Amino acid sequence: RVIAPQCLVIFGASGDLTHRKLVPALFELYKQRRLPSEFALLGCARRPWSNEIFRQKMAEALGETINENQLAWDQFAAGLFYEPVDLQKPEDLIKLSHRLEEIDRLRATRSNRTFYLSVSPKFYGSGCKALANAGLLSDPKRSRVVIEKPFGRDYASAQSLNQIVQSCGQENQIFRIDHYLGKETVQNILVLRFANTIFEPIWNRNYISSVQITAAETVGVEERANYYESSGALRDMVQNHLTQMLAITTMEPPGRFDPEAIRNEKAKVLLAARLADELEPWNCCIRGQYAPGGTKEAPIAGYRQEPGVDPSSTTETYVAMKLFIDNWRWQGVPFYVRTGKRLAKRLSEVVLTFREAPVHLFDAAGGSPTANQLILRIQPDEGAEWRFEVKSPGSGMRSRPVEMEFSYDESFGEPSDEGYVRLLADAMLSDPTLFTRSDEVEAAWRLYTPLLELIEDSPWQLPIHPYESRTWGPAAADTLLANDGLLWRRP
Ligand code: BG6
Repeated sequence: RVIAPQCLVIFGASGDLTHRKLVPALFELYKQRRLPSEFALLGCARRPWSNEIFRQKMAEALGETINENQLAWDQFAAGLFYEPVDLQKPEDLIKLSHRLEEIDRLRATRSNRTFYLSVSPKFYGSGCKALANAGLLSDPKRSRVVIEKPFGRDYASAQSLNQIVQSCGQENQIFRIDHYLGKETVQNILVLRFANTIFEPIWNRNYISSVQITAAETVGVEERANYYESSGALRDMVQNHLTQMLAITTMEPPGRFDPEAIRNEKAKVLLAARLADELEPWNCCIRGQYAPGGTKEAPIAGYRQEPGVDPSSTTETYVAMKLFIDNWRWQGVPFYVRTGKRLAKRLSEVVLTFREAPVHLFDAAGGSPTANQLILRIQPDEGAEWRFEVKSPGSGMRSRPVEMEFSYDESFGEPSDEGYVRLLADAMLSDPTLFTRSDEVEAAWRLYTPLLELIEDSPWQLPIHPYESRTWGPAAADTLLANDGLLWRRP
Protein backbone atom coordinates (compact mmCIF):
# COMPACT_ATOMS: atom_id res chain seq x y z
CA ARG A 1 0.00 0.00 0.00
CA VAL A 2 1.61 3.20 -1.20
CA ILE A 3 0.89 6.55 0.39
CA ALA A 4 0.10 9.11 -2.29
CA PRO A 5 1.93 12.45 -2.45
CA GLN A 6 0.35 14.73 0.11
CA CYS A 7 0.59 17.36 2.78
CA LEU A 8 -0.34 16.44 6.32
CA VAL A 9 -1.56 19.47 8.23
CA ILE A 10 -1.51 19.22 12.01
CA PHE A 11 -3.58 21.76 13.93
CA GLY A 12 -2.31 21.90 17.48
CA ALA A 13 1.27 21.51 16.29
CA SER A 14 2.71 23.10 19.42
CA GLY A 15 0.83 20.64 21.62
CA ASP A 16 1.80 17.57 23.51
CA LEU A 17 0.42 14.96 21.12
CA THR A 18 2.29 16.37 18.14
CA HIS A 19 5.74 16.08 19.65
CA ARG A 20 5.10 12.98 21.76
CA LYS A 21 3.29 10.84 19.20
CA LEU A 22 2.58 12.32 15.80
CA VAL A 23 5.98 13.58 14.66
CA PRO A 24 7.82 10.51 16.05
CA ALA A 25 5.30 8.31 14.18
CA LEU A 26 5.83 10.25 10.96
CA PHE A 27 9.59 10.05 11.33
CA GLU A 28 9.25 6.32 11.85
CA LEU A 29 7.24 6.08 8.62
CA TYR A 30 9.95 8.11 6.92
CA LYS A 31 12.68 5.77 8.17
CA GLN A 32 10.66 2.79 6.98
CA ARG A 33 10.48 4.50 3.56
CA ARG A 34 6.71 4.52 3.72
CA LEU A 35 6.34 8.25 3.07
CA PRO A 36 6.44 9.42 -0.54
CA SER A 37 9.20 11.83 -1.48
CA GLU A 38 6.43 14.31 -2.34
CA PHE A 39 5.42 14.70 1.30
CA ALA A 40 5.15 17.73 3.54
CA LEU A 41 4.11 18.23 7.11
CA LEU A 42 2.61 21.61 7.87
CA GLY A 43 2.38 22.36 11.57
CA CYS A 44 -0.27 24.92 12.54
CA ALA A 45 -0.99 26.52 15.90
CA ARG A 46 -1.50 29.98 17.27
CA ARG A 47 2.12 30.50 18.32
CA PRO A 48 4.12 32.72 15.98
CA TRP A 49 6.74 30.06 15.21
CA SER A 50 8.80 29.87 12.03
CA ASN A 51 9.64 26.73 10.03
CA GLU A 52 13.00 26.73 11.75
CA ILE A 53 11.61 26.90 15.27
CA PHE A 54 9.10 24.14 14.48
CA ARG A 55 11.85 21.89 13.11
CA GLN A 56 14.01 22.58 16.12
CA LYS A 57 11.19 21.85 18.60
CA MET A 58 10.38 18.58 16.88
CA ALA A 59 14.07 17.64 16.83
CA GLU A 60 14.27 18.28 20.57
CA ALA A 61 11.21 16.12 21.11
CA LEU A 62 12.75 13.23 19.21
CA GLY A 63 15.99 13.53 21.17
CA GLU A 64 18.17 10.44 20.93
CA THR A 65 16.33 8.96 17.97
CA ILE A 66 17.78 11.75 15.86
CA ASN A 67 21.38 11.25 16.93
CA GLU A 68 21.17 7.72 15.59
CA ASN A 69 19.54 8.86 12.33
CA GLN A 70 20.90 12.33 11.69
CA LEU A 71 20.92 12.11 7.91
CA ALA A 72 17.37 10.76 7.76
CA TRP A 73 16.23 13.50 10.12
CA ASP A 74 17.83 16.25 8.00
CA GLN A 75 16.04 14.94 4.92
CA PHE A 76 12.74 14.52 6.76
CA ALA A 77 12.98 17.93 8.43
CA ALA A 78 13.33 19.60 5.03
CA GLY A 79 9.66 18.68 4.48
CA LEU A 80 8.49 20.26 7.77
CA PHE A 81 6.83 23.65 7.64
CA TYR A 82 4.94 25.86 10.05
CA GLU A 83 2.15 28.39 9.68
CA PRO A 84 0.56 30.33 12.56
CA VAL A 85 -3.19 29.63 12.26
CA ASP A 86 -6.17 30.29 14.47
CA LEU A 87 -8.95 28.11 13.10
CA GLN A 88 -11.52 30.57 14.42
CA LYS A 89 -10.25 33.39 12.20
CA PRO A 90 -11.46 33.29 8.58
CA GLU A 91 -8.51 35.41 7.47
CA ASP A 92 -6.15 32.74 8.83
CA LEU A 93 -7.89 30.13 6.69
CA ILE A 94 -7.24 32.21 3.60
CA LYS A 95 -3.59 32.47 4.59
CA LEU A 96 -3.55 28.70 5.14
CA SER A 97 -5.00 28.00 1.69
CA HIS A 98 -2.26 30.09 0.10
CA ARG A 99 0.40 28.37 2.13
CA LEU A 100 -0.92 24.99 1.07
CA GLU A 101 -0.78 26.00 -2.58
CA GLU A 102 2.79 27.13 -2.09
CA ILE A 103 3.67 23.80 -0.47
CA ASP A 104 2.03 22.00 -3.39
CA ARG A 105 4.42 23.80 -5.70
CA LEU A 106 7.46 23.26 -3.49
CA ARG A 107 6.90 19.60 -2.64
CA ALA A 108 4.64 18.41 -5.48
CA THR A 109 1.97 17.37 -2.99
CA ARG A 110 -0.80 17.70 -5.59
CA SER A 111 -3.51 19.32 -3.42
CA ASN A 112 -3.85 16.03 -1.57
CA ARG A 113 -4.32 16.85 2.12
CA THR A 114 -4.87 15.15 5.43
CA PHE A 115 -5.92 17.58 8.16
CA TYR A 116 -5.29 16.39 11.71
CA LEU A 117 -7.28 18.12 14.44
CA SER A 118 -5.12 17.74 17.50
CA VAL A 119 -6.81 20.71 19.15
CA SER A 120 -9.11 21.10 22.12
CA PRO A 121 -12.24 18.96 21.56
CA LYS A 122 -14.41 22.05 21.76
CA PHE A 123 -12.95 23.11 18.40
CA TYR A 124 -13.59 19.85 16.52
CA GLY A 125 -16.92 21.03 15.08
CA SER A 126 -15.89 24.60 14.36
CA GLY A 127 -12.51 23.42 13.03
CA CYS A 128 -14.21 21.15 10.49
CA LYS A 129 -16.57 23.94 9.52
CA ALA A 130 -13.71 26.37 9.05
CA LEU A 131 -11.95 23.91 6.73
CA ALA A 132 -15.15 23.25 4.80
CA ASN A 133 -15.96 26.96 4.48
CA ALA A 134 -12.48 27.59 3.13
CA GLY A 135 -13.19 24.94 0.48
CA LEU A 136 -10.45 22.70 1.84
CA LEU A 137 -12.70 19.64 2.14
CA SER A 138 -14.52 19.97 -1.15
CA ASP A 139 -12.68 17.17 -2.93
CA PRO A 140 -13.54 13.92 -1.11
CA LYS A 141 -10.75 12.05 -2.87
CA ARG A 142 -8.05 14.53 -1.95
CA SER A 143 -8.97 15.75 1.49
CA ARG A 144 -9.67 14.10 4.79
CA VAL A 145 -9.87 15.08 8.44
CA VAL A 146 -8.53 13.12 11.38
CA ILE A 147 -10.28 13.87 14.65
CA GLU A 148 -8.74 12.98 17.98
CA LYS A 149 -10.69 11.66 20.92
CA PRO A 150 -12.84 12.42 22.85
CA PHE A 151 -15.48 12.55 20.14
CA GLY A 152 -18.30 14.09 22.20
CA ARG A 153 -18.94 13.99 25.94
CA ASP A 154 -22.08 11.89 25.88
CA TYR A 155 -24.63 10.47 23.46
CA ALA A 156 -26.29 13.78 22.58
CA SER A 157 -23.07 15.74 22.08
CA ALA A 158 -21.56 12.93 19.97
CA GLN A 159 -24.69 12.95 17.81
CA SER A 160 -24.55 16.68 17.28
CA LEU A 161 -20.80 16.62 16.58
CA ASN A 162 -21.42 13.88 14.02
CA GLN A 163 -24.04 16.04 12.36
CA ILE A 164 -21.66 18.96 12.15
CA VAL A 165 -18.69 17.03 10.78
CA GLN A 166 -20.87 15.14 8.33
CA SER A 167 -22.21 18.43 7.02
CA CYS A 168 -18.61 19.38 6.20
CA GLY A 169 -17.74 16.35 4.14
CA GLN A 170 -18.53 12.71 3.45
CA GLU A 171 -18.28 10.06 6.16
CA ASN A 172 -15.33 8.47 4.34
CA GLN A 173 -13.39 11.74 4.70
CA ILE A 174 -13.70 11.61 8.48
CA PHE A 175 -11.22 9.60 10.50
CA ARG A 176 -12.13 9.39 14.21
CA ILE A 177 -9.00 8.11 15.82
CA ASP A 178 -8.76 5.61 18.65
CA HIS A 179 -5.10 4.75 19.04
CA TYR A 180 -5.92 1.34 20.57
CA LEU A 181 -7.09 0.23 17.13
CA GLY A 182 -3.61 1.02 15.85
CA LYS A 183 -2.06 -1.48 18.25
CA GLU A 184 -0.79 -4.59 16.52
CA THR A 185 -2.20 -6.81 19.24
CA VAL A 186 -5.69 -5.34 19.04
CA GLN A 187 -5.73 -6.01 15.30
CA ASN A 188 -4.38 -9.45 16.05
CA ILE A 189 -7.63 -10.30 17.83
CA LEU A 190 -9.30 -10.16 14.42
CA VAL A 191 -6.68 -12.36 12.81
CA LEU A 192 -6.62 -14.81 15.67
CA ARG A 193 -10.39 -15.16 15.55
CA PHE A 194 -10.98 -15.16 11.83
CA ALA A 195 -7.85 -16.73 10.32
CA ASN A 196 -8.00 -19.89 12.42
CA THR A 197 -10.55 -22.62 12.83
CA ILE A 198 -9.73 -23.54 16.42
CA PHE A 199 -11.06 -20.44 18.16
CA GLU A 200 -14.29 -19.41 16.51
CA PRO A 201 -16.29 -22.58 17.27
CA ILE A 202 -15.78 -22.05 21.01
CA TRP A 203 -15.96 -18.24 20.95
CA ASN A 204 -19.44 -18.01 22.41
CA ARG A 205 -21.70 -18.45 25.44
CA ASN A 206 -21.62 -22.26 25.16
CA TYR A 207 -17.93 -22.36 26.06
CA ILE A 208 -16.98 -19.01 27.51
CA SER A 209 -18.17 -18.26 31.02
CA SER A 210 -16.83 -14.71 31.46
CA VAL A 211 -14.54 -12.14 29.89
CA GLN A 212 -12.28 -9.57 31.53
CA ILE A 213 -10.93 -6.56 29.70
CA THR A 214 -8.26 -4.53 31.48
CA ALA A 215 -6.27 -1.42 30.66
CA ALA A 216 -4.13 -0.70 33.70
CA GLU A 217 -1.60 2.11 33.90
CA THR A 218 1.09 2.87 36.46
CA VAL A 219 1.29 6.56 35.60
CA GLY A 220 -0.89 9.17 37.26
CA VAL A 221 -2.66 12.03 35.56
CA GLU A 222 0.69 13.65 34.63
CA GLU A 223 0.34 17.20 33.27
CA ARG A 224 -3.17 16.70 31.96
CA ALA A 225 -5.25 17.65 34.99
CA ASN A 226 -7.07 20.31 33.07
CA TYR A 227 -8.44 17.84 30.55
CA TYR A 228 -8.75 14.89 32.92
CA GLU A 229 -10.78 16.72 35.56
CA SER A 230 -13.65 17.08 33.12
CA SER A 231 -13.16 13.65 31.64
CA GLY A 232 -12.33 10.95 34.17
CA ALA A 233 -11.57 7.33 33.38
CA LEU A 234 -15.00 6.58 31.95
CA ARG A 235 -14.72 9.13 29.18
CA ASP A 236 -10.94 8.94 28.83
CA MET A 237 -10.56 5.17 28.48
CA VAL A 238 -13.77 3.18 28.74
CA GLN A 239 -16.02 4.78 26.13
CA ASN A 240 -13.28 4.49 23.51
CA HIS A 241 -10.33 2.14 24.05
CA LEU A 242 -11.98 -0.50 26.23
CA THR A 243 -15.18 -0.45 24.23
CA GLN A 244 -13.22 -0.92 21.01
CA MET A 245 -11.44 -3.92 22.53
CA LEU A 246 -14.84 -5.23 23.60
CA ALA A 247 -16.28 -4.77 20.11
CA ILE A 248 -13.39 -6.50 18.38
CA THR A 249 -13.49 -9.37 20.82
CA THR A 250 -17.23 -9.92 20.49
CA MET A 251 -18.23 -8.92 16.94
CA GLU A 252 -19.53 -11.43 14.41
CA PRO A 253 -17.25 -12.45 11.54
CA PRO A 254 -17.48 -9.76 8.84
CA GLY A 255 -18.69 -10.76 5.38
CA ARG A 256 -15.31 -9.70 4.01
CA PHE A 257 -12.29 -7.71 5.08
CA ASP A 258 -13.49 -4.30 4.14
CA PRO A 259 -13.87 -1.16 6.24
CA GLU A 260 -17.65 -1.04 6.14
CA ALA A 261 -18.13 -4.77 6.71
CA ILE A 262 -15.92 -4.64 9.80
CA ARG A 263 -17.43 -1.49 11.19
CA ASN A 264 -20.96 -2.80 10.57
CA GLU A 265 -20.22 -5.74 12.84
CA LYS A 266 -18.64 -3.59 15.54
CA ALA A 267 -21.56 -1.18 15.53
CA LYS A 268 -24.00 -4.09 15.61
CA VAL A 269 -22.50 -5.75 18.66
CA LEU A 270 -22.28 -2.44 20.52
CA LEU A 271 -25.99 -1.94 20.00
CA ALA A 272 -26.56 -5.23 21.83
CA ALA A 273 -24.31 -4.27 24.77
CA ARG A 274 -25.80 -2.98 28.01
CA LEU A 275 -24.85 -2.32 31.63
CA ALA A 276 -25.42 -5.45 33.70
CA ASP A 277 -27.94 -3.64 35.90
CA GLU A 278 -29.54 -0.81 33.99
CA LEU A 279 -32.08 0.01 36.66
CA GLU A 280 -29.58 0.20 39.49
CA PRO A 281 -26.24 0.94 37.77
CA TRP A 282 -24.44 1.31 41.13
CA ASN A 283 -24.62 -2.49 41.35
CA CYS A 284 -22.48 -2.91 38.26
CA CYS A 285 -20.09 0.02 38.26
CA ILE A 286 -17.37 1.00 40.72
CA ARG A 287 -15.48 4.26 40.59
CA GLY A 288 -12.17 4.88 42.33
CA GLN A 289 -9.54 7.57 42.75
CA TYR A 290 -5.89 7.12 43.71
CA ALA A 291 -5.06 8.31 47.19
CA PRO A 292 -1.67 9.54 48.44
CA GLY A 293 0.74 6.68 48.94
CA GLY A 294 4.28 5.50 48.47
CA THR A 295 6.82 5.69 51.26
CA LYS A 296 8.16 8.47 53.43
CA GLU A 297 11.25 8.68 51.24
CA ALA A 298 9.36 8.39 47.98
CA PRO A 299 5.82 9.66 48.50
CA ILE A 300 3.33 9.41 45.65
CA ALA A 301 0.83 12.23 45.35
CA GLY A 302 -2.83 11.30 45.43
CA TYR A 303 -4.99 12.47 42.55
CA ARG A 304 -6.35 15.37 44.58
CA GLN A 305 -2.81 16.59 45.28
CA GLU A 306 -1.78 16.60 41.63
CA PRO A 307 -1.09 20.05 40.14
CA GLY A 308 -4.23 21.51 38.63
CA VAL A 309 -6.62 19.09 40.32
CA ASP A 310 -9.41 20.35 42.56
CA PRO A 311 -8.47 19.24 46.13
CA SER A 312 -12.01 17.90 46.58
CA SER A 313 -12.29 16.45 43.08
CA THR A 314 -14.65 13.52 42.54
CA THR A 315 -13.26 12.63 39.13
CA GLU A 316 -12.66 8.90 38.84
CA THR A 317 -9.19 7.65 37.96
CA TYR A 318 -10.40 4.06 38.10
CA VAL A 319 -13.53 2.42 36.89
CA ALA A 320 -14.70 -1.17 36.83
CA MET A 321 -17.99 -2.37 35.46
CA LYS A 322 -19.98 -5.33 34.38
CA LEU A 323 -21.73 -5.50 31.05
CA PHE A 324 -23.83 -7.97 29.11
CA ILE A 325 -24.29 -8.38 25.39
CA ASP A 326 -27.81 -9.41 24.53
CA ASN A 327 -27.33 -11.42 21.38
CA TRP A 328 -27.25 -15.06 20.37
CA ARG A 329 -23.51 -15.41 20.83
CA TRP A 330 -23.09 -13.74 24.20
CA GLN A 331 -26.38 -13.84 26.09
CA GLY A 332 -25.69 -14.29 29.81
CA VAL A 333 -21.88 -14.02 29.62
CA PRO A 334 -20.63 -11.28 31.96
CA PHE A 335 -18.01 -8.87 30.59
CA TYR A 336 -15.95 -7.16 33.27
CA VAL A 337 -14.02 -4.11 32.16
CA ARG A 338 -11.64 -2.08 34.26
CA THR A 339 -9.14 0.66 33.82
CA GLY A 340 -7.20 2.85 36.17
CA LYS A 341 -4.20 5.04 36.72
CA ARG A 342 -1.50 4.38 39.30
CA LEU A 343 -2.26 0.69 39.38
CA ALA A 344 0.15 -2.10 40.22
CA LYS A 345 1.28 -2.75 36.67
CA ARG A 346 1.05 -1.33 33.15
CA LEU A 347 -1.01 -3.91 31.39
CA SER A 348 -3.76 -4.17 28.80
CA GLU A 349 -5.33 -7.53 28.12
CA VAL A 350 -8.46 -9.45 27.23
CA VAL A 351 -9.03 -12.63 29.20
CA LEU A 352 -11.56 -15.22 28.08
CA THR A 353 -12.42 -17.71 30.78
CA PHE A 354 -13.93 -21.00 29.65
CA ARG A 355 -16.53 -23.13 31.34
CA GLU A 356 -15.47 -25.87 33.69
CA ALA A 357 -15.16 -29.46 32.51
CA PRO A 358 -18.54 -31.11 33.18
CA VAL A 359 -17.03 -33.77 35.45
CA HIS A 360 -13.80 -33.82 37.40
CA LEU A 361 -12.09 -37.17 36.95
CA PHE A 362 -8.77 -36.19 38.47
CA ASP A 363 -7.48 -34.64 41.63
CA ALA A 364 -6.41 -31.13 40.90
CA ALA A 365 -3.63 -29.12 42.46
CA GLY A 366 -5.37 -26.58 44.67
CA GLY A 367 -8.54 -28.66 45.04
CA SER A 368 -10.34 -28.03 41.78
CA PRO A 369 -9.12 -27.61 38.22
CA THR A 370 -8.37 -24.05 37.15
CA ALA A 371 -10.70 -22.81 34.46
CA ASN A 372 -9.15 -22.71 30.99
CA GLN A 373 -8.24 -19.23 29.92
CA LEU A 374 -7.13 -17.55 26.76
CA ILE A 375 -5.25 -14.36 27.56
CA LEU A 376 -4.75 -11.87 24.76
CA ARG A 377 -1.90 -9.66 25.88
CA ILE A 378 -2.28 -6.26 24.27
CA GLN A 379 0.68 -4.70 26.09
CA PRO A 380 3.38 -4.66 27.26
CA ASP A 381 4.35 -8.34 26.64
CA GLU A 382 2.48 -8.51 23.37
CA GLY A 383 1.20 -11.95 22.60
CA ALA A 384 -1.26 -14.55 23.78
CA GLU A 385 -1.35 -17.32 26.30
CA TRP A 386 -3.48 -20.42 26.85
CA ARG A 387 -3.92 -21.81 30.34
CA PHE A 388 -5.01 -25.39 30.70
CA GLU A 389 -4.64 -28.42 32.95
CA VAL A 390 -2.04 -31.13 32.30
CA LYS A 391 -1.01 -34.23 34.17
CA SER A 392 1.34 -33.50 37.00
CA PRO A 393 4.46 -35.71 36.61
CA GLY A 394 4.75 -38.75 38.84
CA SER A 395 2.51 -41.53 39.99
CA GLY A 396 -1.18 -40.89 40.28
CA MET A 397 -3.33 -38.72 38.05
CA ARG A 398 -3.23 -35.25 39.44
CA SER A 399 -3.79 -32.28 37.20
CA ARG A 400 -2.22 -28.85 37.40
CA PRO A 401 -2.46 -25.72 35.30
CA VAL A 402 0.23 -24.70 32.78
CA GLU A 403 0.60 -21.96 30.20
CA MET A 404 1.30 -22.13 26.51
CA GLU A 405 2.67 -18.91 25.12
CA PHE A 406 2.95 -16.91 21.96
CA SER A 407 5.06 -13.77 22.11
CA TYR A 408 5.35 -11.21 19.34
CA ASP A 409 8.84 -10.43 20.41
CA GLU A 410 10.06 -14.02 20.23
CA SER A 411 8.24 -14.86 17.04
CA PHE A 412 8.96 -11.71 15.08
CA GLY A 413 12.04 -10.39 16.82
CA GLU A 414 11.26 -6.72 16.45
CA PRO A 415 9.08 -4.40 18.46
CA SER A 416 5.72 -3.54 16.94
CA ASP A 417 5.14 -0.05 15.67
CA GLU A 418 3.32 2.41 17.90
CA GLY A 419 -0.40 2.65 17.16
CA TYR A 420 0.01 6.11 15.68
CA VAL A 421 2.41 4.83 13.01
CA ARG A 422 -0.23 2.52 11.65
CA LEU A 423 -3.08 4.97 12.02
CA LEU A 424 -1.35 7.95 10.45
CA ALA A 425 -0.38 5.79 7.49
CA ASP A 426 -3.94 4.47 7.17
CA ALA A 427 -5.44 7.96 7.30
CA MET A 428 -3.04 9.14 4.60
CA LEU A 429 -4.00 6.05 2.61
CA SER A 430 -7.67 6.96 3.09
CA ASP A 431 -8.29 3.57 4.69
CA PRO A 432 -10.91 3.95 7.45
CA THR A 433 -10.94 0.32 8.65
CA LEU A 434 -9.22 1.13 11.94
CA PHE A 435 -11.15 4.33 12.61
CA THR A 436 -14.50 4.53 14.35
CA ARG A 437 -17.54 5.28 12.28
CA SER A 438 -20.25 7.69 13.44
CA ASP A 439 -22.69 4.94 14.45
CA GLU A 440 -20.04 3.10 16.48
CA VAL A 441 -19.13 6.21 18.43
CA GLU A 442 -22.77 6.93 19.14
CA ALA A 443 -23.48 3.34 20.18
CA ALA A 444 -20.56 3.50 22.61
CA TRP A 445 -21.74 6.77 24.12
CA ARG A 446 -25.27 5.46 24.35
CA LEU A 447 -24.03 2.59 26.46
CA TYR A 448 -22.40 4.81 29.09
CA THR A 449 -24.54 7.94 29.01
CA PRO A 450 -26.98 6.73 31.73
CA LEU A 451 -23.98 6.21 34.02
CA LEU A 452 -22.49 9.60 33.18
CA GLU A 453 -25.82 11.27 33.87
CA LEU A 454 -26.19 9.46 37.16
CA ILE A 455 -22.70 10.56 38.21
CA GLU A 456 -23.60 14.14 37.37
CA ASP A 457 -27.07 14.19 38.92
CA SER A 458 -26.68 11.95 41.97
CA PRO A 459 -22.96 11.38 42.52
CA TRP A 460 -23.56 9.77 45.93
CA GLN A 461 -25.04 6.76 44.16
CA LEU A 462 -21.73 6.07 42.47
CA PRO A 463 -19.31 7.17 45.17
CA ILE A 464 -15.58 7.48 44.66
CA HIS A 465 -13.60 4.75 46.42
CA PRO A 466 -10.06 5.83 47.25
CA TYR A 467 -7.37 3.27 46.47
CA GLU A 468 -3.72 3.09 47.22
CA SER A 469 -1.28 3.72 44.38
CA ARG A 470 0.46 0.62 43.01
CA THR A 471 -2.44 -1.63 43.94
CA TRP A 472 -5.13 -3.13 41.71
CA GLY A 473 -7.72 -0.53 42.66
CA PRO A 474 -10.45 -0.29 45.29
CA ALA A 475 -11.68 -3.35 47.17
CA ALA A 476 -15.22 -2.58 46.03
CA ALA A 477 -14.18 -3.59 42.52
CA ASP A 478 -13.21 -7.01 43.85
CA THR A 479 -16.68 -7.38 45.32
CA LEU A 480 -18.16 -6.79 41.87
CA LEU A 481 -16.59 -10.08 40.78
CA ALA A 482 -16.74 -11.84 44.13
CA ASN A 483 -20.54 -11.52 43.94
CA ASP A 484 -20.33 -13.76 40.89
CA GLY A 485 -17.82 -16.12 42.53
CA LEU A 486 -14.93 -14.69 40.46
CA LEU A 487 -11.63 -12.87 40.88
CA TRP A 488 -9.90 -10.25 38.77
CA ARG A 489 -6.75 -11.54 37.15
CA ARG A 490 -3.67 -10.05 38.82
CA PRO A 491 -0.74 -11.02 36.72
C1 BG6 B 1 -5.09 7.96 26.15
C2 BG6 B 1 -5.61 8.51 27.44
O1 BG6 B 1 -6.10 7.93 25.17
O2 BG6 B 1 -4.60 6.65 26.37
C3 BG6 B 1 -4.54 8.51 28.50
O3 BG6 B 1 -6.08 9.83 27.22
C4 BG6 B 1 -3.92 7.15 28.64
O4 BG6 B 1 -5.05 8.96 29.75
C5 BG6 B 1 -3.53 6.58 27.29
O5 BG6 B 1 -2.79 7.26 29.47
C6 BG6 B 1 -3.14 5.12 27.40
O6 BG6 B 1 -2.61 4.68 26.20
P1 BG6 B 1 -1.58 3.47 26.14
O7 BG6 B 1 -1.35 3.28 24.69
O8 BG6 B 1 -0.36 3.92 26.89
O9 BG6 B 1 -2.25 2.31 26.81
